[in-house]
Amino acid sequence: MHSFNELVKIFAERFAIEHFPKHPDTLYEPGNYFLALGGKRIRPVICLMGNELFDEINPDTYHVACAIELFHNFTLIHDDIMDAASLRRGMETVHKKYGDNTALLSGDVMLIRSYDYINKINITYLPRILGLFNKTAREVCEGQQLDMDFEKKEHVLMDEYIEMISLKTSVLLAASLEMGAILGGASEHNCRHIYEFGKNLGIAFQIQDDYLDAFGDPEKFGKDVGGDIRQNKKTFLMLHTLATASAKQKEELRELIKTNPSDKVEKVLAIYKACNVDAWANQLKEKYLQTAMQHLEDIAVLSVRKKSLVELAAFLIQRDY
Ligand code: IPE
Ligand code: IPE
Ligand code: MG
Ligand code: MG
Ligand code: MG
Repeated sequence: MHSFNELVKIFAERFAIEHFPKHPDTLYEPGNYFLALGGKRIRPVICLMGNELFDEINPDTYHVACAIELFHNFTLIHDDIMDAASLRRGMETVHKKYGDNTALLSGDVMLIRSYDYINKINITYLPRILGLFNKTAREVCEGQQLDMDFEKKEHVLMDEYIEMISLKTSVLLAASLEMGAILGGASEHNCRHIYEFGKNLGIAFQIQDDYLDAFGDPEKFGKDVGGDIRQNKKTFLMLHTLATASAKQKEELRELIKTNPSDKVEKVLAIYKACNVDAWANQLKEKYLQTAMQHLEDIAVLSVRKKSLVELAAFLIQRDY
């Protein structure tokens, strides 16, 4: 069995191939630019981990892992347009560098390319993998739309936020693990629990992402810190603050959202801090981590095989990038 870092290296070698033809380079170069920026490669690697939990790595898992990483990168290119983000992985976003139209199309072609990798797997597994892949892709779109709808909505419930981040982020982590498990011949029971492990872990992962968007070190995080605040994203930070702040702070917060002043980010951050969001973030992450770990325990394989998934879980919710 391999550690997360070993699998990152193994995947990197498999993924370092030409994914696109040369012509027209105005379409494909932006995709290559973006893929070359790297990223943590969490999803393809957990797909491999989900596979290795049950058996030696099934070669088809590399195809699915490539498909997943291409799909993830496609969502990021489009997400950066939706979020008006100018920085990703410490570099200029695709739409900033090449314009919105090219970013849309190079994202589209990356999504299409991901299906070429799915199409390479053994026919026995194809319907199940493709079914889960498509269900997940549809749910990501649902989550992304809810994320944008909430920007304009004043009252968003914590449950609605959790549903939204489950859809936009955690189902892909869950499905990555489950696709690996399916290709490893896992039982229905084990598939269900690995999916739920990934889903709950993914919620904690997005909570950390929202935390870093407000309080991260821009050098490490590689994204524009404060972007969520500027876009009026209804993150748990905003919801918790709206629920617990004093009447005066709430009024100030509403005013900042309405008028969008140039010092909005620092002012909102000051209110967040005054409302103790740090402690709340840790509590919320811990809650979903615990549920995730329970599902991991329920997977019927020897616990020594689960070691790298336990380590991964700890890393994902403490990460600073
Ligand atoms: C970013 O995901 C999008 C979210 C769901 C928060 P990652 O943090 O995994 O992005 P990369 O691939 O490592 O850049
Ligand atoms: C993005 O969530 C989720 C998807 C890309 C589907 P965010 O908008 O919070 O991700 P970042 O912070 O831009 O990476
Ligand atoms: Mg974004
Ligand atoms: Mg977004
Ligand atoms: Mg974010």
